[in-house]
Amino acid sequence: MANDRTHNAAPASLKKVAVWDLPLRIFHWTLALAVLGLIVTGTQGGELLLRHAQFGYLVLGLLAFRVIWGLGGPRHARFSQFVRGPRALFGYLRLQREEKLRWIGHSPPGGYAILAMLLLLLAQAGTGLIADDEIAFSGPLAAAVPASWSATATWYHKTIGKPAILGMIGLHLSAVFYYVIVLRIPLISAMLTGEREIRG
Ligand code: HEM
Ligand code: HEM
Repeated sequence: MANDRTHNAAPASLKKVAVWDLPLRIFHWTLALAVLGLIVTGTQGGELLLRHAQFGYLVLGLLAFRVIWGLGGPRHARFSQFVRGPRALFGYLRLQREEKLRWIGHSPPGGYAILAMLLLLLAQAGTGLIADDEIAFSGPLAAAVPASWSATATWYHKTIGKPAILGMIGLHLSAVFYYVIVLRIPLISAMLTGEREIRG
């Protein structure tokens, strides 16, 4: 856990620390826009499903990038850095606000939430590929699988995946704004500029 915090004896000085690299920031904001587009086009349905599928392929590409980045990218982007065991999780929860202020990268609870969101998006895009709205559009692989698989995937896509992703986005934004407003930790600017200003 000690690796994730900075250690410096001068408590008053502020210094800038690099957190999110440029490719990861581009990944994040493109993903956010694509998911917004997917929710709008998916809910509208009809002819917009063609555009929906294009956004979906974009998300699949972004997720492939994130896996590569999670395995071999810069330090804070790596899965090994933020998908941590229960000891790190409970250790983090016991930290004081001042110590949380100095945490760089995803916190252990945040890391689990990010992992869950990425897996839900993967499941959503995967089921989309074999989904069928039985009117105007079916996923590119729908014809290659039995009709019952396609029906189950469509059911998952609409009944489980959609509310789960909406819930995760709600949780994500609530957590980010809790950090920004209550804990006064400037997470959003770090995801925009790549840098965090920390004390000491
Ligand atoms: C559909 C919308 C969104 C999705 C799907 C989404 C998804 C994600 C994902 C996957 C990450 C992890 C980045 C990584 O390591 O790969 C992340 C981090 C982050 N997101 Fe979002 N995001 C969305 C919208 C937003 C919005 C609107 C904001 C700002 C208001 C925001 C602020 C952040 C911040 C600050 C982090 C870094 C959290 C930290 O420091 O641990 N996100 N988001
Ligand atoms: C992470 C990516 C994706 C997200 C977040 C997403 C989200 C959604 C949402 C919110 C709906 C509306 C469900 C409803 O009517 O209540 C929907 C419907 C649909 N999506 Fe996706 N989707 C994704 C990827 C894909 C992909 C890659 C495809 C196919 C290439 C696809 C095909 C469909 C189809 C065919 C429907 C209509 C189902 C129906 O109304 O019967 N989706 N999606």
